[in-house]
Amino acid sequence: MGCAMTAGTPNTHASSTGQTFTDAAWLDDHFEASRPEYEAQLRAVGIRPGWRVLDAACGSGPFLPWLAALVGPAGHLAALDLAPDNVAVVERRVAMSALPCPVEARAGTVLALPYADDSFDAVWFANTSQYLSDAELATALAEFRRVVRPGGLVAVKDADLAYHSIAPAPRGLVLRLVEEGARRGSGQSAGTLRTPLLGGWLRRAGLVEVWRRATLIERAPPLDATTRRFWRGSLTFFASVSAGWDLPEADREAWEGLRDPDTLDRFLDDPDTCLIEGNVLAVGRVPARENG
Ligand SMILES: C[S@@+](CC[C@H](N)C(=O)[O-])C[C@H]1O[C@@H](n2cnc3c(N)ncnc32)[C@H](O)[C@@H]1O
Repeated sequence: MGCAMTAGTPNTHASSTGQTFTDAAWLDDHFEASRPEYEAQLRAVGIRPGWRVLDAACGSGPFLPWLAALVGPAGHLAALDLAPDNVAVVERRVAMSALPCPVEARAGTVLALPYADDSFDAVWFANTSQYLSDAELATALAEFRRVVRPGGLVAVKDADLAYHSIAPAPRGLVLRLVEEGARRGSGQSAGTLRTPLLGGWLRRAGLVEVWRRATLIERAPPLDATTRRFWRGSLTFFASVSAGWDLPEADREAWEGLRDPDTLDRFLDDPDTCLIEGNVLAVGRVPARENG
């Protein structure tokens, strides 16, 4: 889910950069809890054997094995992340695994990519647009366009909280919380609310043949241990930041209930519970250069 709400709220699962929900253990859980849907989203992008691909904001590197399988032995992967501790995890994992292609990991920012023009056939940017302001997203997309060759692909995937649902809690509970977070000045909340508009962002960045697809990741009890830990962590965080916020009465009551660990555990084990995380994948192609 990966959704910080405001400055001054608990800094949950932060990496060395201080960004909420960016440490390797959390990212691993989120990935495992979403594995089949994430794999389908990555496969839908159109990455081909032999391609050079940048995993931008790679986190702990969970997508790298799938990316390596897609590009195969003739391909090449670069992995970049702002958090040096995440890059160290990636380097360790790459060294211990037998991926079919080379992987170069480095610390850096998507706002000023340390790669030459046309270095890649594709960029994969997952679960990170929410951390960027509007100006930063425009900069990052311009950077992706710069480092991808004409005809190559830029793929951006992120959570869309409009689709989030934790039935039988009130419909739209999470969305209203994030909207209130944005109202209170949380850049990450505002960034998450932008997800449904990613297609337009890609078009305005000059990409062509843009398409987008929403995916629902739906889970119900009994939850496996990782999925349960992921949702427990998310809901604990949301419930804690919601305290004292200006929300509808029914929402306040729901969050107050989930703030109690025993109630939260019962909720996560209740067969009537249904947990849905929404995601959007937006993909665009770098246009051919005009002659001259
Ligand atoms: C929620 S994680 C997603 C990681 C991975 N893409 C995944 O889907 O599991 C967001 C990642 O973006 C990184 N990040 C945040 N801002 C960044 C920036 N400006 N440049 C590069 N990485 C950034 C964080 O360090 C973190 O690892």
